[in-house]
Amino acid sequence: MRTHYCGELNKEYIDQTVDLCGWVNRRRDHGGVIFLDLRDKQGIAQIIINPEQQETFSIAEGVRSEFVLRVTGQVIARSEGMTNEKISSGQIEVVATNIEILNNSKPIPFQIDSIDTSEEVRLKYRYLDLRREEMQSKLRLRSKVTHFMRDFMDRNDFLDIETPFLTKATPEGARDYLVPSRTHPGEFFALPQSPQLFKQLLMMSGFERYYQIVKCFRDEDLRADRQPEFTQLDVETSFMSEDEIMSMMEEMTREMFKSVIDVDLPSKYPVISYQEAMNLYGVDRPDMRIPMKMVDMDEIMKGVDFKVFSGPANDNASRVAALKIPGGASISRKNIDKYTKYVGIYGAKGLAYIKLNEDGPSSPILKFLGDEVISQIISNTEAVTGDIIFFGADKTKIVNESLGNLREKIANDLKIYSSDWEPIWVVDFPMFDTNSDGSLSAVHHPFTAPSVSSEELINNPEAALSKAYDLVINGSEIGGGSIRIHQTEMQQTVLKILGINEEDAQEKFGFLLNALEYGCPPHGGIAFGLDRIVMIMTGSESIRDVIAFPKTQTAACMLTDAPAEVPKKILRELNIKTIK
Ligand code: AMO
Ligand code: AMP
Repeated sequence: MRTHYCGELNKEYIDQTVDLCGWVNRRRDHGGVIFLDLRDKQGIAQIIINPEQQETFSIAEGVRSEFVLRVTGQVIARSEGMTNEKISSGQIEVVATNIEILNNSKPIPFQIDSIDTSEEVRLKYRYLDLRREEMQSKLRLRSKVTHFMRDFMDRNDFLDIETPFLTKATPEGARDYLVPSRTHPGEFFALPQSPQLFKQLLMMSGFERYYQIVKCFRDEDLRADRQPEFTQLDVETSFMSEDEIMSMMEEMTREMFKSVIDVDLPSKYPVISYQEAMNLYGVDRPDMRIPMKMVDMDEIMKGVDFKVFSGPANDNASRVAALKIPGGASISRKNIDKYTKYVGIYGAKGLAYIKLNEDGPSSPILKFLGDEVISQIISNTEAVTGDIIFFGADKTKIVNESLGNLREKIANDLKIYSSDWEPIWVVDFPMFDTNSDGSLSAVHHPFTAPSVSSEELINNPEAALSKAYDLVINGSEIGGGSIRIHQTEMQQTVLKILGINEEDAQEKFGFLLNALEYGCPPHGGIAFGLDRIVMIMTGSESIRDVIAFPKTQTAACMLTDAPAEVPKKILRELNIKTIK
């Protein structure tokens, strides 16, 4: 139906007759002449309709926004002063000789290219929202990313193997989405939280290198970077060490950033231990673009006459830490109050500070600290005139979370970034987290290999580290993986520590435990969050902006109105009764 794309036309096409197809982006009447901006997947071309072309002109008069047209016309140069530098076809326009209306459109509920349409409306009319150039270009980039991933994995001899969606629960720490079975009354499938167990089985089957670009399903609290169904690049290998896997995946991401968005990531990514990340940045996914670190104040504060600080400084489960903001002395009283409220979200009871003004330090807590301590603080934080130093003093978890998040918030508010792209590996995670009731849960999943013997693991599980690694770029955890347990005895030990008895283990993943006993190779892998990768590559605020049909914060689909009730008859077939 067409000879060219609208966005493809430029000066080189002058005098040619073209057939274009697309949507009416805008129609303007200019004293007897009608202008149409015709839009297709490549861009926009300006169509001009002169009244002399009577038949065409009267068709154009009836055309409205988002009508679908086929236009035949001649490309001419725009007259001087009429060119538009913002669009690629801005040097030319097309004089229409014929217009065919392929379809009309109801008046649209919002102006397609308007930036202040609410997200609710955008999601309800997602098919219109996706017509925006911004959305088109994000999904184009996403397609480039998956294309690159497949190509890289294929070049490196990985096999693309599909694993089931209707399956049993995979323990990744979230709730499962369940699917009732009609043929097995009262029983349910779980949608996979990841292909973890199946990819390990594929290693036991001897495939050695597996990958899949695959949907995962997790019923968890949603955030800007979390969706209930999301996509992973899922990878598993046999006979490769941690370092070998990390270095191959580093190469994958480096080549991907170069090829898709022309960004050069460093030739070797830095590696940081979980403990160091927590001490210095307060989070396990440090944003290394921000040139600020937390400084430990425990030693300095042990003897001060200020309970708020000396209490935590003398308690092993607590800490006092300082965060210096370069140039932060100009932060107003009002904004300090705002930040104090902000750290309150993480449980902090206050946000003490010292400003270093031209005429010396100023702070409501100076009188509690004394000159000696103040000069130690200044020297340890390397603060200079014009800076502000914030303090957190509380349980370690509260201090880390509040100062860690404050660091990112202030960096964003004041645009304190020292570079554009900063990848970092986080390693040496603990094997287990201690729950409030004293029981232990797996920090990653229960198939992660420890870096200690099973004897050491039993004797001191809280201290044991794992062979897990996360890849973080610009403060976003874009991938995580580990070496797996490949020996039955170790697997049993870990399950025992987690309080999963043999019967439960058999019921939940007996198939995996059985398979371990038939010659399981040493293996390990990783999974990348595709949506998060595309989100940071496109600088999007939310993961929803890089997913064609995403769910809302309450895990609903505005477009289809899912989830929805189903007829009683269907529920009866499934042996299900609902309780309102
Ligand atoms: P993990 O649970 O760390 O590991 O997931 C891997 C990566 O997937 C992304 N991700 C998400 N993205 C969007 N929405 C979510 N709800 C969501 N949850 C996770 C993150 C994360 O780094 N089976 C293991 C991998 C392995 O050990 O090989 C796993 O799934 O970017
Ligand atoms: P107060 O003595 O409670 O008035 O606190 C004096 C200063 O210390 C105020 O600036 C508080 O915001 C701050 N502050 C109080 N508790 C904490 C805490 N746990 N961590 C950091 N600062 C605190």
